Amino acid sequence: MSTAEPPPPPPAAPAAPRCPVLDPAGGALHAEAAGLRARGPAVRVELPGGGAAWAVTGYAAMQALAADPRVSRDFRHWPGAGEAPEGWVLAPFAFQDTFANTHGAEHRRARARIAPAFSPRRVEAMRPQVRATADRLVGALAELPPGASADLRQALALPLAMTVICDLFGVPDELRGPLGRAIDTVMDSSLGQDASLAAQAELGLRMVELVAHKRAHPAADLTGDLLLADGPDGRPMPEPELLGTLFAMVGAGYETAVNLITSAALALLTHPQELARLRAGAIGWSDVIEETLRVEGPVMYLPLRYALADLDLGGGVVIPEGDPVVLGFAAAGRDPARHPDRPEVFDPARADKAHLAFGHGPHFCLGAHLARLEAETALSTLFERLPDLALADPERPPARIPSMIVNGPAALEVVPRPAGG
Ligand code: HEM
Repeated sequence: MSTAEPPPPPPAAPAAPRCPVLDPAGGALHAEAAGLRARGPAVRVELPGGGAAWAVTGYAAMQALAADPRVSRDFRHWPGAGEAPEGWVLAPFAFQDTFANTHGAEHRRARARIAPAFSPRRVEAMRPQVRATADRLVGALAELPPGASADLRQALALPLAMTVICDLFGVPDELRGPLGRAIDTVMDSSLGQDASLAAQAELGLRMVELVAHKRAHPAADLTGDLLLADGPDGRPMPEPELLGTLFAMVGAGYETAVNLITSAALALLTHPQELARLRAGAIGWSDVIEETLRVEGPVMYLPLRYALADLDLGGGVVIPEGDPVVLGFAAAGRDPARHPDRPEVFDPARADKAHLAFGHGPHFCLGAHLARLEAETALSTLFERLPDLALADPERPPARIPSMIVNGPAALEVVPRPAGG
């Protein structure tokens, strides 16, 4: 008996294309963003730790969405919020109980309570104090023996930004180190679930300690004046909101400014011709700082936003109502559609340095004046007092921070006074 050959199996259905995965360790943030931008105004991506969102990396679409009242930062507008896993690595950002994660009139009211403390006039008044801190830290670098090296992030950028923000909010000296380390750890979006849970617990503990200290030692600082005082409704801020707001302010005010200072220093040390033009007065500090913000924005993706309606971005791309969105703030400045002339090149003399490094619209960064003041003060003090400052290993680009949230060198090893210099 002859057996018939079994019919060939039907051709397998083509596998549904997987959406790109945002690298939790931010290994190549700019290359990744350029790849996404080339695919359209918004691209569905997998988020670190699970879940999906629409990533927006082009200037025009980002600017439009950041200002669109149909896009909310309030996680109560996210139908999928309940599905986020426990210990989700992005939870400290997406689910933080702070005014930054509110929307519309509620956000405007809460922001108005804090914003006056960051006006240009109030920030300008901080200049002498910032200058004194920069002088002290750069002075210590100037004392190093010729040929010795130091990490500029740890020796200047980090203590300067931490001192400024902690003085402002009255964080006691003994809590600054542990709090800074706890914030650094939650910024690491490559942490696994257990490590992330532990980091969030540690940060929560530090914030509770801080609030307990502030209640026991009332002082005339921003915590006392703005957060512990009764609000316009005559009531104190509820405890979870107080903890969340302090984390948002200290975290936003410290990790970001550190990266602006280290990225600008790295840019100048790797572009000696630009440093020479700066010293000759052909360009100014604000040119260097704005150009650094354009090419190396210190904040990449700050999770999350939520579509309150179907959002038609053109070209057949529609973000459905309820879907989460992440804006790639550091990517906008490198968008070739906005900067056709070598967008990735650090060129502080270029006329148009438009960027969205501080965001746009109702959530525009409250600390932008302060960050610019800190960066200008730190960098001018550094390069004026250490005219021979050089990279310790010019051949080796510094490692990057393992994060898709913040963008900057993890360390910047320099020689303040080269031997024989
Ligand atoms: C170079 C330094 C900084 C960069 C690049 C930066 C970046 C940003 C960005 C991109 C946003 C918008 C977030 C969004 O729309 O989702 C933002 C908001 C914010 N920033 Fe900054 N920031 C910096 C420094 C600071 C400093 C020094 C502070 C001060 C304490 C600060 C406080 C805030 C606050 C409170 C918000 C939330 C505002 C709101 O939601 O209404 N930032 N920042």
